[in-house]
Amino acid sequence: MTNGQAHVIVLGNEKGGSGKSTTAVHIGVALAHAGFRIAMLDLDSRQRTVSRYLENRAQFAASRGIALPTPDHVVIAEGDDGPNEVALRLDQAAVLDFVVVDTPGRDSPLARAALARADTIVTPINDSFVDFDLIGQVDPETFEVRRPSFYAELIWEARRARARQTGREVDWVVLRNRLSHLEARNMKRVGAALEQLSKRVGFRVVGGLSERVIYREFFPRGLTLLDRGAMDDFTLSHVGARTELRKLLDGLNLPGWDPARLAA
Ligand SMILES: Nc1ncnc2c1ncn2[C@@H]1O[C@H](COP(=O)(O)OP(=O)(O)OP(=O)(O)O)[C@@H](O)[C@H]1O
Ligand SMILES: [Mg+2]
Repeated sequence: MTNGQAHVIVLGNEKGGSGKSTTAVHIGVALAHAGFRIAMLDLDSRQRTVSRYLENRAQFAASRGIALPTPDHVVIAEGDDGPNEVALRLDQAAVLDFVVVDTPGRDSPLARAALARADTIVTPINDSFVDFDLIGQVDPETFEVRRPSFYAELIWEARRARARQTGREVDWVVLRNRLSHLEARNMKRVGAALEQLSKRVGFRVVGGLSERVIYREFFPRGLTLLDRGAMDDFTLSHVGARTELRKLLDGLNLPGWDPARLAA
């Protein structure tokens, strides 16, 4: 917690399906496992992926009679008062260590209100120039970055306003998500473009969750990779995935984060 205020982590990318909600739940549950006081805001009141995930989790825990560390969550609906409600919730979150906010995969006043209060912005992107296009445009011949795109500009503005307000830098982390190691050439090209753009617009690049079926299968039970005790089986694939999740959490550089707070 900094200055008596919760540290606000916002998952944002206007591109749909990049893994915002899945990553948000994994971060939120990891913070709960680590003993932090944490809540989640679900700003996608249409899909409600985070809420549904956490509701499934509570039901599964109850049906098995087990305890699963679970963040509280609140859904905020679109509407005239929505952005004010987001602002109020985040400004008043003084009894919490962290708030993790999931935003819809499109421009929305709610997402902007959350971005304006973010301490850490996490943007998962798929390893594709289609997804990259929202943050930067590349030359079709050389794949060199030509210019930042609208989403990078939106984040730039949000960070500048927030830094003026708090006097602190806002950390922007781009997560390379849903990586498939079968596409080495594309991975290299997107990686090089991200590297170039990161220097121009000031984000950090961190490895995300690779493409694995388990991330889709967890949802009906609301489980994450950190819930080993609640899983019927724990395979080598889970071990590898958990290692990448731990790296992701370490890479976020969150205040007070200590990997030793997570059970082995
Ligand atoms: N690492 C992963 N491996 C495999 N599947 C994944 C992974 N991450 C997410 N998915 C799947 O991809 C789809 C989109 O994920 P998710 O809903 O988390 O993305 P999102 O960015 O929140 O989407 P939206 O913009 O629609 O809110 C879901 O079917 C989810 O189960
Ligand atoms: Mg989502």
